[in-house]
Amino acid sequence: MSDRFEIAFAPLNTEPETATVVLASDGLVLGSKGREFDTKSASAISKAAAAADFKGKYKSSIEILAPAKLGIDRLIVSGLGKVGSLTEQQAVDLGGAIVAAIQARKSSSASVIVDVEGSETLSANEIAALIGQGAMLRHYNFKKYHTKKSSEDGNEQEGLKKLVIQVANPDKAKAAFQPLKAVANGVNLARDLVNEPANILGPVELAEKTKALEKLGVDVEILDVKDMEKLGMGSLLSVGQGSVRPSRLAVMVWNGAKGSKKQKPVCFVGKGVVFDTGGISIKPAAGMEDMKGDMGGAAAVIGTMHALAERKANVNAVGLIGCVENMPSGTATRPGDIVKSMSGQTIEVINTDAEGRMVLADVLWYAQDKFKPKLVIDLATLTGAIMVALGKEYAGLFSNEDKLADELLSASRSTGEKLWRMPLDKAFDKAMDSKNADMKNAGGRWAGAATAAAFLQRFVQKDTPWSHIDLAGTAMDGNRNDTNQSWGAGWGVRLLNAFVAEHHEKGEK
Ligand code: BES
Ligand code: MN
Ligand code: ZN
Repeated sequence: MSDRFEIAFAPLNTEPETATVVLASDGLVLGSKGREFDTKSASAISKAAAAADFKGKYKSSIEILAPAKLGIDRLIVSGLGKVGSLTEQQAVDLGGAIVAAIQARKSSSASVIVDVEGSETLSANEIAALIGQGAMLRHYNFKKYHTKKSSEDGNEQEGLKKLVIQVANPDKAKAAFQPLKAVANGVNLARDLVNEPANILGPVELAEKTKALEKLGVDVEILDVKDMEKLGMGSLLSVGQGSVRPSRLAVMVWNGAKGSKKQKPVCFVGKGVVFDTGGISIKPAAGMEDMKGDMGGAAAVIGTMHALAERKANVNAVGLIGCVENMPSGTATRPGDIVKSMSGQTIEVINTDAEGRMVLADVLWYAQDKFKPKLVIDLATLTGAIMVALGKEYAGLFSNEDKLADELLSASRSTGEKLWRMPLDKAFDKAMDSKNADMKNAGGRWAGAATAAAFLQRFVQKDTPWSHIDLAGTAMDGNRNDTNQSWGAGWGVRLLNAFVAEHHEKGEK
């Protein structure tokens, strides 16, 4: 976690840190601060730029060591490209790339000088704030179980402790940074949860993690096995019954919508399988350790609720996570068992490894029953099949409503957390019919992600706008990039936060 990383905003004339990054826009346009550095250092920047053919292109950079007369160890000139066409996402990515450049050598503190013009869409202050968010996301690492902190183990990147972002109006930049920081904290929280091993993070512990949100004003309720038995959640409970660690359902309520009328909430439902062995239909050994990340959906929901509450989002939102462990044992569910879900529908368990949908079935039903939501979005590392279809770059989106799907797709475009819409179809639903019960939990060989979605849809009430996001490919071990170097990606927090900000929050964006 990045708690030992401080981001501060300071005026342009602040004395720079020993490592300093100065931004240059397209055509090697330096702000007054950069020109001052160039003059002082007898044109070190101009000479190095010419030697390296550096022109300020987006994300290109040059490094000048011990520039004469500047009194600093390193000066990195970092290209911003054309300010007019810079997107928010590019500014965030640049913040990540800048931290990577600083971390390439040992510096415990650094300055980034954002002395640029700004454009109609992004002011210099906003660029500074977005760079701060990218820096936070890039700086994240999960090293809590390394007992040696020496540089020989490659732990030296913990070296960077403080980043001072210098900008014309630091107060404005800091104000713009607050909500962005809240979102980065949510992402890094989700990463922590996904990275945590299952011996430490069991279903009870995962549910308890939501309690930390109370200090942000979130109401938290945790249902235990008895509570869920009373509600008739035979489907969720059948998954956890093979584990010595009891199941939980955690509910986080953020009532942030301003105004007199009580607004229906948006509901986020997360699959929180802390470890998925497959149960009696046990998985092969190779790679099974990755199944500690089978709560990536729940982590995204907790991270999103954190982000919304920390930035005091003007929305009513509820996050619900079904926390279970899928283990084989003498008490485990067998293939062929028939269980009754809270909805009243019965399910024949064909494959105990198709457990995520069994968990979601009851949590989805409970969410609709209890909160009468405006819409429901579930997130789950649900199928290997979605990875076969979309790889590690895109998560699959299924939706019973085009408007909701389009809102998610547009949030996806603005955050770079990519979604690809997949089909719901009667034919996939039919594949879930069972001879012995209302439905079975596993379809045939084909369209595994779509038949899983069809199963979930049987637990969505007629008028509820609903989307299902299968993030099996993106929640963990995805492609590393400027803003993520972590196995647990924290994927989905920025997407859902932007979905709320762009489409479900009144007032300003
Ligand atoms: N948790 C897995 C899906 C998964 C696989 C997530 C790999 C991340 C990486 C899920 O519970 C599962 O086992 N799904 C089965 C369903 C099948 C038995 C119908 C699958 O996809 O093979
Ligand atoms: Mn499984
Ligand atoms: Zn699973």
